[in-house]
Amino acid sequence: MPIQYFHYKGLADLRSHAAELGVDIPLVEDSEEIRSILARPVEIKSLGGKTWRIGNSFAIHPMEGCDGDLDGNPGELTARRYRRFGAGGAKLIWFEACAVVPEGRANPRQLWIHPGSANRLRELLETCRDAHRKEFGTCEDFLAVLQLTHSGRYSFEKQKVASRHPVLDLYPLVNREDLPPRETLPELASDEYLAELEDRFVQATALAREIGFDGVDLKMTHGYLLSELIGARTREGAYGGPLENRARFTLNVAEKVRRQVGDDFLLGVRLGVYDGVPYAVGSENSIGVPRDFPTPYNYGFGTDPNDPYRMDLSEPIKFIGWLRQAGVRLLNVSLGIPYANPHLGRPFDKPNEGYYETPEHPLLGVARHFSATAQIQNAYPDLAVVGTGYSWLRHFLIHAAAANIKQHRTTLVGLGRAVLAYPEIPRVALDKAELDPLRTCKTLSYCTYLMRSKKNELGQFPTGCPPFDKEGYGKIMKQARAANRPAAEKK
Ligand SMILES: Cc1cc2nc3c(=O)[nH]c(=O)nc-3n(C[C@H](O)[C@H](O)[C@H](O)COP(=O)(O)O)c2cc1C
Ligand code: SF4
Repeated sequence: MPIQYFHYKGLADLRSHAAELGVDIPLVEDSEEIRSILARPVEIKSLGGKTWRIGNSFAIHPMEGCDGDLDGNPGELTARRYRRFGAGGAKLIWFEACAVVPEGRANPRQLWIHPGSANRLRELLETCRDAHRKEFGTCEDFLAVLQLTHSGRYSFEKQKVASRHPVLDLYPLVNREDLPPRETLPELASDEYLAELEDRFVQATALAREIGFDGVDLKMTHGYLLSELIGARTREGAYGGPLENRARFTLNVAEKVRRQVGDDFLLGVRLGVYDGVPYAVGSENSIGVPRDFPTPYNYGFGTDPNDPYRMDLSEPIKFIGWLRQAGVRLLNVSLGIPYANPHLGRPFDKPNEGYYETPEHPLLGVARHFSATAQIQNAYPDLAVVGTGYSWLRHFLIHAAAANIKQHRTTLVGLGRAVLAYPEIPRVALDKAELDPLRTCKTLSYCTYLMRSKKNELGQFPTGCPPFDKEGYGKIMKQARAANRPAAEKK
């Protein structure tokens, strides 16, 4: 039986366990106060003077459903997910990772923005807005931002890396520590490729605007290409080495966007502010162990080279200052590389099958998220910052969400797995300030299992929440399990 780390009967239990672990998990108890804090609208002003209004303090994090078609168009399950998110009550929907070039897709069913997929993306956006309008009467204060990406090291067809990595080049994925390394090194993205890619991001931004999105996010997190680039201290040339060079790609894109697309289109970044080190499944037991790494460790953004277990936000904070000057108005904070150290980004009770048991109490992971976001918000009090790391807290997440906003430790609260399981959390929180504990995500990682399941005719299973959304994913989970069973067992 897996350990059940979440064992709190009430807020007092949670509070005293946080104190025992020596971490700060602020909590608001009073229902009226929770409601009024979470209902606070957020205003964002562009460099050009345009104002956007987000009608409450909830955001839905970008979450890929891996359910598009091979041409990058969204499918029926994609529409279903965004219908549920639209009706769920959050006023900021951060649409999932969408590749800007076909070779930058993480899987064959990832969304890909290009003229041929524009109509279907427009329909998807309208589906989401219609669902919101139907429930709440208006979309005036409802924002939709599209995440633009190149999957770099984790592209499914041809991996392209931003810098050589002494560990990830050999072990890009979590598996047992005694398994052999991969034999061929992934290709390093050349300066010419990156210069060309800048324009692909700009074109994708212009197309996203034409489609009707309110803004885009240049995805710089989770070990994908732009996230690796901002940490590429050992890369040579125009895009590597000093922070000024590493920031070049994003700052160039931001400048070109302002020139070609205009100042009144919302520019966001999802930034991984602490990459940490890669982990493996321990060979003695299944607890996560760090793989051997060289020190100083010059391979992770926000990661102290002399003590890479320590988050050091000095570079991320400096970089965010430059992003603001370049017109970025929305910053979503994330951590870790889900393929290499999933406990950092998605604190969990139960790992995905074949992955490691958490090497730290998940509440420490939640606290790391809250602390990172708070430090960034503190450095830039007027920046619209979206915090991550709430789902593990189950029905107590609304108490922490309200407290972080109240204490100016974040502007918006982003929900990930929590809303795959229970999409109407924002609405219920704003109505009753109380969530149904039977419906909350229990961080069981089946959504990750589906995401990593590739053995069907399209080379990818769609993902969602099988335990709490059986209607959507019960059958898909059974199919994925059958496909993943070793051939010998199937006989
Ligand atoms: C199925 C799934 C898909 C995800 N897809 C994306 C994505 O497209 N872009 C992204 O930035 N993060 C993605 N994430 C990470 C989430 O946005 C979020 O950071 C993470 O789940 C932690 O938040 P939580 O504790 O609320 O779940 C994904 C997570 C899951 C579980
Ligand atoms: S499968 Fe459902 S319960 Fe499990 S982590 Fe994902 S969203 Fe949560």
